[in-house]
Formats: sequence, C-alpha cells, structure tokens
Amino acid sequence: MDNTEFSKKIIVAIDGYSSSGKSTMARELAARVGYVYVDSGAMYRAVTLYAIRNNMVDPDKKIKTAELVAALPDIHISFLPSGDDGIQHTLLNGEDVEKLIRDMEVSNLVSPVAVIPEVRARLTAIQQEFGSHKGIVMDGRDIGTTVFPEAELKVFVCASPEERARRRLKEMQGKGENVTFDEVLHNVVERDRIDTTREVSPLRKADDALELDNGNMSPAEQMDWLIRRFNERCGL
Ligand code: DC
Repeated sequence: MDNTEFSKKIIVAIDGYSSSGKSTMARELAARVGYVYVDSGAMYRAVTLYAIRNNMVDPDKKIKTAELVAALPDIHISFLPSGDDGIQHTLLNGEDVEKLIRDMEVSNLVSPVAVIPEVRARLTAIQQEFGSHKGIVMDGRDIGTTVFPEAELKVFVCASPEERARRRLKEMQGKGENVTFDEVLHNVVERDRIDTTREVSPLRKADDALELDNGNMSPAEQMDWLIRRFNERCGL
C-alpha cells in the first residue's frame, strides 16, 4: 500500500538553474509518491514556441511583446500524463509539442519570453490552479518564491555552469542534435544571467528552501536525499 495514503498531501517546489537536473528529480519524486508532476519551464517554452510560429520574433531576435501579450488568451497549455516513454508531454493548443519545445531555437528565446510580466502572471495563475489540491511536485525558477510561497518542501538545486553544460550536451547529443559544448555552455550562462536578473520573480533561493548542490552526487543519492526530506515534511 502507498504510505502517502495516510499522510497529508503537500506541495513540493523544486527550483534551480537550467540543466541542474531538477526536472529529473521532480519527475521521479512525483512518480514514487503518486503525486502530479508539473514542469513549469515547459509552459514558458510552449509560449515561446507559439511566439516563434506566429511571427512574434523580430529578425534581431527581439520578442514582439505587445503582440504576444495580446495573444495570451489564445494560448492553452496542458499536459498528457507520462506515456510509454515515461515522459510527460506538453500540449500547446492540443498539439503535442514536447520535442519541439526542447530545441535550441526555443532554448535561446525562452528567457526573454519569461521576463514578460503578463506571461508570468498568466502562467503563475495556471500553475497555482494545478496545485490547488496539493499532492503536486512542480519544478522551475520561482515556484518556492512566487507560485507556492507556502509550499511545505522547497528545494533549490545548483551545480557549476560547466557541469550543467556537460549534462545538457549529453542529453542533446543523445537526441541527435548537432551542438558543441561551447554553444551549450553559452546558452546555460546566458540563461542564468537573464533568469537571475529579471525584474519579475527572478531566480533565487527562497529563504526557507533547502539547498542541494548535486555536482558530485549520483542520481540515486539525490533521490535518497529528496525522499528523506519529503518523508520528514509529510510526518512519515
Ligand atoms: O527549466 P527550463 O530550462 O525548461 O526553463 C525554460 C526557461 O523558462 C528558463 O530559461 C527560465 C524560464 N522559467 C521561468 O522563468 N520560470 C519558471 N518557473 C520556469 C522556467
């Protein structure tokens, strides 16, 4: 029997730098304890894909903010629970865009989209609705600070930019993408800069978040650490 049945349901907020491994941890925790998993970064990526497809990006890579903000009511994002591949699929207006939102073009434009206050307000409201019944693990940049400041368990994940670029490169090469280490490192560093310096909900550790530097930890060690913290918070 699942021991979460007898314990209170909580909200788990996992924030951190790009490619810090937070999504893998969050997804696995949710699967292990029977919670819903939401990848909030995928939502920002889906909005970015919408902007690209609808000519809302200038040739000099500037987002046409007013047009994108006006289109927000037409952008519907949802998730398909994990399929055979064990991965949750992101839907943009009903279309499965899981693969498309991970490519380099979206990765390079997503941070400028994520600084737009109206985009953040809309996605934050949807994320809060997802968590209204608790029993949720959400990962992102501002989950413990803005989306769920009341979350019972908050984790802030970090690792060096080089370590994160190595992981990301491996992941992208595994998908057959033709990128170099320097390109990936540049993307990681640039996203860190935009994410930590934006005006609305910048990436930062919540005062009551537990910091996890996973640079020298195996995935199994990270999961053990996380499950222990989760059980503590649930009073198990
Ligand atoms: O986690 P990720 O790399 O897929 O996130 C993509 C981008 O979305 C990232 O550069 C910052 C932004 N983001 C955000 O601003 N707030 C969140 N809660 C999640 C992601």
